[in-house]
Amino acid sequence: MTNSGFGVTIVTGASSGLGAGMARELARRGHELALFARRADKLQSLADEVETESGVAVTAHSLDVTDHDAVFAQFRSVSQDRGGLARVVVNAGIGKGARVGTGRFAANRDTLATNVIAALAQIEAAMEIFYEQGHGQLVVMSSVTSGRGLPGPMNAYAAGKSAVTHIADGVRLDVAQRKSPIRITTLHPGYIDSEMQDRTGRRHRLQVDADTGARALVDAIERGRGSECVPRWPWTAYRLVVDHAPRRILTRIL
Ligand SMILES: NC(=O)c1ccc[n+]([C@@H]2O[C@H](COP(=O)([O-])OP(=O)(O)OC[C@H]3O[C@@H](n4cnc5c(N)ncnc54)[C@H](OP(=O)(O)O)[C@@H]3O)[C@@H](O)[C@H]2O)c1
Repeated sequence: MTNSGFGVTIVTGASSGLGAGMARELARRGHELALFARRADKLQSLADEVETESGVAVTAHSLDVTDHDAVFAQFRSVSQDRGGLARVVVNAGIGKGARVGTGRFAANRDTLATNVIAALAQIEAAMEIFYEQGHGQLVVMSSVTSGRGLPGPMNAYAAGKSAVTHIADGVRLDVAQRKSPIRITTLHPGYIDSEMQDRTGRRHRLQVDADTGARALVDAIERGRGSECVPRWPWTAYRLVVDHAPRRILTRIL
């Protein structure tokens, strides 16, 4: 699938990591972009670089996704200015959870506020516009860790990814009931190089580099399936193992 030529692709959390990688790869493949994040200078530099390299229109928009009114207003404004929305990639996220019961409630609260409630605001804002247009693709960034309750710092993060996976599953059923051509794509990335991964201070032995990850993410977006692990290998198998492994093995493979 190439760019349909109808509307723009919104990517949130595009100032670094997977969002920045997807922005570069989507533009290379001809998709016009509207990029969102809080770090406006970093985002504007990326937009300028990507527009020059690809020749497609790329705009940068400063947004904190936890400002829910701003999410609705900015998605609406981009849609009106750019001839509609081809797709919205709900990617902005944080990974700063902490072991429950260790006095770090604020870290877990912030993780869920950004990765679930702010993601829901983006999904709501996107779906309103898609229903009006009668088309569009919602892409929700989940994780290979979304299928099971996980220990330690991954607790709130995995629970949040489970929540957004279920929200996307429910919206997919809504769309099917309406016999609408709107597509709902949930991506479950494995470990991919990014600022979030850098902050953990360790590199998972199966972690893939940022370019490989970005190409695989955009391949999956363009395939438009309901749900897939990215890259598919080894992460489809890894997810199955995480979902079903006995507890003593689980902590060794995370
Ligand atoms: N990397 C992986 O291995 C991996 C695996 C599975 C899932 N994921 C998911 O992929 C997504 C991207 O993660 P990443 O690894 O690329 O992390 P990252 O490099 O830290 O990027 C996170 C992005 O989200 C933005 N963001 C965070 N809070 C925001 C807020 N309140 N408002 C607006 N933007 C906000 C950040 O931009 P600003 O700070 O400029 O706002 C940044 O652009 C996340 O949803 C993450 O859970 C990543």
